[in-house]
Amino acid sequence: MMEFKGADVISTETMTRGDIDKIMKTAEKFLPVAQKEKTSDILAGKVLAALFYEPSTRTRLSFETAMLRLGGKVINVIGMDSSSLAKGETLHDTGKVVENFADVIAMRHPEQGSVAEVADAAGIPVINAGDGAGEHPTQALLDVFTILRERGKIEGLTVAMVGDLKYGRTVHSLAYLLSHYGVKLILVSPEQLKMPQEVKDHLKDKKISFTETEKMEDALKHAEVIYSTRVQRERFVDQAEYERFKHYYVLTRKDIEKHNGKMTILHPLPRVGEISMDVDDLPGAAYFRQVMNGVAVRMALLALVLGKA
Ligand code: CP
Repeated sequence: MMEFKGADVISTETMTRGDIDKIMKTAEKFLPVAQKEKTSDILAGKVLAALFYEPSTRTRLSFETAMLRLGGKVINVIGMDSSSLAKGETLHDTGKVVENFADVIAMRHPEQGSVAEVADAAGIPVINAGDGAGEHPTQALLDVFTILRERGKIEGLTVAMVGDLKYGRTVHSLAYLLSHYGVKLILVSPEQLKMPQEVKDHLKDKKISFTETEKMEDALKHAEVIYSTRVQRERFVDQAEYERFKHYYVLTRKDIEKHNGKMTILHPLPRVGEISMDVDDLPGAAYFRQVMNGVAVRMALLALVLGKA
């Protein structure tokens, strides 16, 4: 198992089942604090630097909420233009600077590998809050936490990932995590937005059974969990191509009820039309519960890397 104290959290690829279990157990412990039923000040005196160079609502606010509700404090940079990166400062120097102000960094940036670059320079833990089309490990950890809470287990489930599997960083991180459980994966995407080869190679190495299809119906027929994703407009060089795919898959209540009205429906959010609003009050629609679970998981990660859990 990894030594969490002082560790960076950049990717889920190298996490072990023991690491995941430890994060899940710790998140469970923090759930009453995340749900505002209990208070805690275990991170009193600690400062989180939230460096968000790309838009975010959930990830930034849930990191900040997690830190504040555990008694810590937050400083932040929001947007590339308001930081010295806009003046040409390097990611390396940014890491060397921010380590003087904070005890931990949560960072989002449009370039894959950028967060690792800051982590290499900074002498404090750095948590990847999304690096381009790379990874989004904290989202995937909260997705696993949500599946466990919604279904009671992950082993044996058939999980479908639907949408933009090429640019959607959450599905890359989630596939790595699910490879530690005996799941079957159905990867549903247009040919042009398929799961990257390196993620599929990892699944093969871990002997995870997966199929690739363009048909949403394959997911509706066979999956117990559907993980819907947004087509990542900001990653497309050709906006006409984005327009072609943006509403490729739309999950409706009628489709779900026809096949399995009890399936668990997840989405990292924001949704921009992939799940119709009439799905929201189905019992399995868990995407807003994911948001709350994200606070508990980020509390767990902050406490672990700061040596307080
Ligand atoms: N799920 C997610 O990363 O949402 P935000 O972009 O709002 O942070």
